[in-house]
Amino acid sequence: MKNYLDCRKEYDKNKLIEAAEYIKNGKLVLFPTETVYGIGADGFNSEAVKNIFIAKGRAQDNPLILHVSNIEMVEDIAEYITPLEYEIMDKFFPGPLTLILKRKGIVPDVVTASLDTVGVRMPANKIAHDLIELSGVPVAAPSANVSGKPSGTNVQDIFSELKNRVDYIIDGGDTLVGLESTVIRVIDDEIHILRPGKITEKDLKVLGKKVIVDNHVLKIVNDNEKVLSPGMKYKHYAPDTKCLLIYSEDEDKLINKIKEYESNNTLIITKESHLSNFKNAISYGETLEEISHNIFKILRQVDKMNVSLVIIEGVNPEGLGLAIMNRLIRACSHNYVKI
Ligand code: TXA
Ligand code: MG
Repeated sequence: MKNYLDCRKEYDKNKLIEAAEYIKNGKLVLFPTETVYGIGADGFNSEAVKNIFIAKGRAQDNPLILHVSNIEMVEDIAEYITPLEYEIMDKFFPGPLTLILKRKGIVPDVVTASLDTVGVRMPANKIAHDLIELSGVPVAAPSANVSGKPSGTNVQDIFSELKNRVDYIIDGGDTLVGLESTVIRVIDDEIHILRPGKITEKDLKVLGKKVIVDNHVLKIVNDNEKVLSPGMKYKHYAPDTKCLLIYSEDEDKLINKIKEYESNNTLIITKESHLSNFKNAISYGETLEEISHNIFKILRQVDKMNVSLVIIEGVNPEGLGLAIMNRLIRACSHNYVKI
């Protein structure tokens, strides 16, 4: 394919000059970050950003994150940054964290869905960093997927879905974390987690401030309910096949409950160590890191399995487990049995 850059084995920054030209010229570039792939465009170019929304079929009222390569870039797009917000960036940038800041007027309305804030993230992935630096502008990028589908964690999974919707593809292999960044906002010197991720409540508590997990993280958002982050309202990560999430702290109860729902027409997604309990099962790994890394890839496979129901084993919703359960509950359209 033309406009495909393979950085899986060898990478050097000069190879990205062409991709950066695409960004500067208002085109869309698929690129890896340490969390998931993104569909990037020049964050100062309204037309280019509009094309991201079209490419994804994304709701206009769901704002995009601006990706930066240094703190000066943050100061170009955000104002009234508080000492706590600087401390957060100092400690967690670059990394899998998005900080919602007060926006400057220079940021186009289409990026922020006309909110008075802007999501800012400095990716830790070298390719992402170099692409932003060479482009010289903040790169607006949502996760790489058609809206509603699981985010892309490798190019193969999303190639046919996105190849005609982007102008340039950078292949950096599998992403490290596998789930999107933690999204936080500081309100009255307290840290609110709006979307859980690899940076956890415990990690953020190191700053000595109150950390509040938004109560929509594991719940359905009702129509007309006011939310701190528009992304909470939308359907996410869902395969076409019906999915059911089951969780119990008690391992025996959990396995027995899954068995109750098991039939000749089900697929079970479970831990490596639980595989032998079921007939038709695949593993998502054993540790929370492995599950986080693998889950979107697996959710993208289930529609090929020709079953009428997918049963997914839940995890303890603590630490990285909270981010996993936040995604799984949505993947299962809130079809959730907890015992
Ligand atoms: O890891 C990630 O964050 C990936 C990679 C590509 O960086 N990006 C990503 O973008 O997941 P997206 O657009 O799929 O999710 C961004 C989330 C959405 O839920 C959106 O509503 C929320 O962040 N968001 C963005 N700007 C916001 C703002 N100003 N206020 C509240 N929420 C915001
Ligand atoms: Mg997304």
